[in-house]
Amino acid sequence: MLIIFGIVTHFKETKETIPLRSLAEKQELFIGSAVNSKNLIGGTQYEKILSTEFNMVTTENDMKFSLIHPEKNTYDFSKADQIVDFAMENNQKVRGHTLVWHNQIPDWIKYGNFSEYQMRKILKDHIQTVVSRYRGKVFAWDVVNEALNEDGSLRDSIWLRTIGEDYIALAFQWAHEADPDALLFYNDYGIEGINAKSNSLYSMLKKLKNKGVPIDGVGYQMHTRISRNINPETLKKSMDRLQNIGLQTHITELDIGIATSGSLNTRLNKQAKMYSNILKVCLDTESCTALVMWGFTDKYTWKDKEARPLIFDANYNPKKAYWSITETLKENQK
Ligand code: G3I
Repeated sequence: MLIIFGIVTHFKETKETIPLRSLAEKQELFIGSAVNSKNLIGGTQYEKILSTEFNMVTTENDMKFSLIHPEKNTYDFSKADQIVDFAMENNQKVRGHTLVWHNQIPDWIKYGNFSEYQMRKILKDHIQTVVSRYRGKVFAWDVVNEALNEDGSLRDSIWLRTIGEDYIALAFQWAHEADPDALLFYNDYGIEGINAKSNSLYSMLKKLKNKGVPIDGVGYQMHTRISRNINPETLKKSMDRLQNIGLQTHITELDIGIATSGSLNTRLNKQAKMYSNILKVCLDTESCTALVMWGFTDKYTWKDKEARPLIFDANYNPKKAYWSITETLKENQK
């Protein structure tokens, strides 16, 4: 890596750039990537780019229930610690993902036949043990993840079935008790328009806020593809109404797949345009304070390889989407 007066180049091509995090910091925006501990092995190009370009990281898998709390009396913090330590060393904020989800539930809970009382205790202990461990280190938690169906009803889950709908408010309350300074988020997909799900989310959060439940914001996952455009106007409307009830927003899992027909060049241009349009909405919305992508290199996407949904290719070369984000951050300098 060559550093010339704050200008960094770690790419094969000679184009020089200012790291995304430097541009984003001027806008008071966090720009981040999801991270897997298995990629933090020391001294790799992955780590170099991650630390140079981003000022926020999300634990892609390593804080999920089944990984961090695999047995009733066993917590395994080793992998999550690796990510948190990396972030601390590189002055990056951490988004903790995720405390309560219908997915990645360990077998000891799935097949435990616990009563409502026991499940409340299990969830409270889980949340408070994990949040306390990272108190002062995790900046924002995805406390509840994907609790709603497309039609706005509550999604069936072991938490809903055993504890009832109060599990949502309780989860925020318990997390807040364990770290009163951490920002607490509800995180979901399919809420970037004005639709049944986002309407129901809005009403639910309004009620929770009115009752004094400690919720600070909403995470918009935004896994999408070039054939499924995100309409900037409705995205803005949806963020604005949350802002009006005192909630901030983070874009939490952005990736944009390109696996459709058409020339590669055209598809990469479309992807770049979508990245910059979404970023523009975030920059235009006061309460949108972070944009996190679900990884940064196509080498490690959770999607099929042909999707190539991220801003660096599988060989760590910056794609058009990287440059479009750079340009948008530059154009919108405050
Ligand atoms: O760690 C095990 C490994 O030991 C085992 O050999 C292997 C065999 O399948 O599985 C490994 O676990 C996988 C894990 O990722 C870690 O790589 C799971 O099978 C796999 O299901 C899991 O997928 C993750 C998925 O969430 C489910 O937790 C994806 O990587 C992750 O990108 C994805 O992320 C979700 C967000 O949390 C919520 N929003 C949607 C997003 C995309 O689905």
